[in-house]
Amino acid sequence: MRHTKVKDLLSSTTTLHEVNAKGWVRTFRNNQFIALNDGSTINNIQCVVDFENIPEETLKRITTGAAVSVTGTLAESKGAGQKYEIQVSQLEILGDSDPEKFPMQPKKHSLEFLRENAHLRVRTNTFGAIMRVRSVLSFAVHSYFQQKGFVYVNTPIITGADAEGAGEMFQVTSLPIENLPKNEEGKIDYKKDFFGKHTNLTVSGQLEGETFAMALGQIYTFGPTFRAENSNTSRHLAEFWMIEPEVAFNDLDANMDLAEDFIQYVIKYAMDKCPDDLKFLESRLLEEEKSKPQAERSEMSLLEKLNFVLENNFKRVSYTEAIDILRDSTPNKKKKFQYIINEWGADLQSEHERYLVEKHFKCPVILFDYPAKIKAFYMRLNEDGKTVRAMDILFPGIGEIVGGSQREERFDVLVEKMKVLGIDEEELWWYLDTRRFGSAVHSGFGLGFERLVLFVTGMTNIRDVIPFPRTPGNAEF
Ligand code: 4AD
Ligand code: MG
Repeated sequence: MRHTKVKDLLSSTTTLHEVNAKGWVRTFRNNQFIALNDGSTINNIQCVVDFENIPEETLKRITTGAAVSVTGTLAESKGAGQKYEIQVSQLEILGDSDPEKFPMQPKKHSLEFLRENAHLRVRTNTFGAIMRVRSVLSFAVHSYFQQKGFVYVNTPIITGADAEGAGEMFQVTSLPIENLPKNEEGKIDYKKDFFGKHTNLTVSGQLEGETFAMALGQIYTFGPTFRAENSNTSRHLAEFWMIEPEVAFNDLDANMDLAEDFIQYVIKYAMDKCPDDLKFLESRLLEEEKSKPQAERSEMSLLEKLNFVLENNFKRVSYTEAIDILRDSTPNKKKKFQYIINEWGADLQSEHERYLVEKHFKCPVILFDYPAKIKAFYMRLNEDGKTVRAMDILFPGIGEIVGGSQREERFDVLVEKMKVLGIDEEELWWYLDTRRFGSAVHSGFGLGFERLVLFVTGMTNIRDVIPFPRTPGNAEF
């Protein structure tokens, strides 16, 4: 007999004569009630076993974590909390789980402990919910762009380009590390390497994405990106997923409109498709916040926060205005910030971003027109000669969730900028071709997918919203 998903059984509209369910035991109570979960929903189905007619030996094997198959009738439940239960007539243990050894016992585990058991943590309510929401959000990304006629582009993972010019790259090589070939100058001879040149894992698909936007009009990427930045924070991963749309003929305002509309769409999508998981995550967050002092608890519940983002426009503020606000702010004057803001041109740290979003504006903020000096080489220089058409979107509890810009479309200005920054023109000959042939205004942005999942699930550490996190010193699994 084929098994039916627990989700479908729980949403059945009638009782059913004979059903089969397969899943993992979450708990087994009173030698009688199995809470069975198969991952299709956060909710377990209660399976009532007739313990008098099941051998003692079998009953003992119904332990947390064991895989079982149950057959019986789907009947109305007498107990509170569920409409239907399975009254089991046949039970088969598919895979035992030694209760002395199985780490995911039905009790509260710390998130740190669960991270060390990332291969099993997905069997908990919290991680099951997060990973289902993550999956739905991925689909929402495609749904949004496909509906709008964007073309999905798979940009390369191995590349010779440093798109952000920040030098935070993982090298890719097949050269023997113990015995590197050297050239006449005594430097590593990358001509002997697999690709005949120096290569790295991509930090962003933007540059290749731009070439496609300059032919297909509107494109997006959605893929893994890699950064060897040694930031051991709750917001940084060495391997993360990024969504990068790029649109020909869009200026910075249109770019902001697109980013805002896109974010609101995917959040709404997750709220529509994952009500049970989000309700669970909301109560988890409430519970977690109880251990915090009142002043640090959020004023809104998870769903209120998500609704707030849907119902309110993001506040658009220039970098210059933001610096004025920060300079005059209480934490700056009282030297509470770790980095004191003294003058225009300062790079914003996450403490500043979070002050603007959480304390000052109390809503998502789009900061634009940053100083050219603190931004990447490809951004469009403004008429003032010192700011660029950059935009960052800042979210409560997250900080930067999106980074984007209008691109420098003028060949001469771009080449000049690259010279000043020491970026190799020959390496990027193909990128410069977009400015040589049919150049036009265009814009795009990158959204860090895990930061979005963090926001939607109300989790606080980025290591908890990706299946197997890669961070400095950690590449287990
Ligand atoms: O601001 P970033 O570096 O921008 C770019 O890479 C541009 N090429 C995007 C574009 O215009 N097409 O990164 C974009 C976003 C950030 O706003 C952040 O959400 C996320 O990527 N991000 C990270 N997420 C997790 N871990 C890291 N180490 C991240 N670095 C950036
Ligand atoms: Mg950025």
